[in-house]
Amino acid sequence: MVSGLPCIGPHRLAGRVILAPMAGITDRPFRQLCRTLGAGLVVSEMVTADKRLWHTPKSRLRLDHSGEPGPRSVQIAGGDADMLADAARVNADNGAEIIDINMGCPAKKVCNKAAGSALMRDEALVGDILERVVSAVDIPVTLKIRTGWCDQTRNALAIARMAENAGIAALSVHGRTREQRYQGQAEYDTIARIKSELSIPVFANGDIDGPEKARQVLDYTGADAVMVGRAAQGNPWIFREIEHYLESGNLLPPPTAVERADVMTGHLEALYAFYGEHMGVRIARKHIGWYLACAEHGEHWRREFNTLEDCDEQQRYLKALFAENSPFAHIDGTRAA
Ligand SMILES: Cc1cc2nc3c(=O)[nH]c(=O)nc-3n(C[C@H](O)[C@H](O)[C@H](O)COP(=O)(O)O)c2cc1C
Repeated sequence: MVSGLPCIGPHRLAGRVILAPMAGITDRPFRQLCRTLGAGLVVSEMVTADKRLWHTPKSRLRLDHSGEPGPRSVQIAGGDADMLADAARVNADNGAEIIDINMGCPAKKVCNKAAGSALMRDEALVGDILERVVSAVDIPVTLKIRTGWCDQTRNALAIARMAENAGIAALSVHGRTREQRYQGQAEYDTIARIKSELSIPVFANGDIDGPEKARQVLDYTGADAVMVGRAAQGNPWIFREIEHYLESGNLLPPPTAVERADVMTGHLEALYAFYGEHMGVRIARKHIGWYLACAEHGEHWRREFNTLEDCDEQQRYLKALFAENSPFAHIDGTRAA
């Protein structure tokens, strides 16, 4: 047991490694898989605060949390305080146990509506949104931010203070500005500074790609947990690997071929069940591509896999990949650099 696991309101996290919200990736099947493999908390893909768009198939699937273990954290995105408060209320009524406000996403279509990380440029609006959303629901509200809009306006600390004063229950900070998007390296000084001033839990995010990096970032920032995004793509084992290292100081061996086969097959089945065959087959392609990226011939297999058009063909291909004499069955599971 890791001592001092952080709490979000009444919810004690199951571990100190959190799956970051990623639109198009952290759907219900992937969230459930990451929880099974040790994620202390998972956050849904963002849902627009504009309820008029909730009837679309994409939004309906994003709003579906049936059967998920708690605490269920639902991320909302938008730029209008009333709409965000309303969206928080409806999601809470529908079973969300934590509401996360997105002020970290640089995606263009969100930012065109002055939402996501673009909100950080307007501190008065941020204050309004935080207060309205927190008072709209009686479940904890968390916030996800970047370090600022650009190098000249790194106002994450000011926003973090506002968040704590408004009653935000925990804060995730991605160590990049909006202008940096995903370029360069995440910096952790801002996160350390925020952590030293706030008393609510702070989660460090950005470029955490393995156990040793997680340990370094926690030590450097003093953060209460780490949040992992891209490094979990095709590598859901990262949660238990980091958690084990944080607890024991030892590295776990990589997953065996038998386990990799089980997890990948199960992941495909969960995608078909959740999305139906047509969409599930398409969504499976990107996930399988990521799983294969750790292997020398991964790119070749990915291309072949992408030509397959139905569930049976995809499952048969996977089986062949793990056949006894196949090179994929014999890689040691170590991630390619
Ligand atoms: C494909 C993709 C989709 C993302 N979608 C969201 C999102 O919906 N909401 C959000 O707050 N951040 C989103 N992010 C940002 C991640 O949550 C995270 O902050 C970022 O990837 C940095 O963490 P990492 O270096 O561990 O990937 C997304 C990132 C990626 C790569």
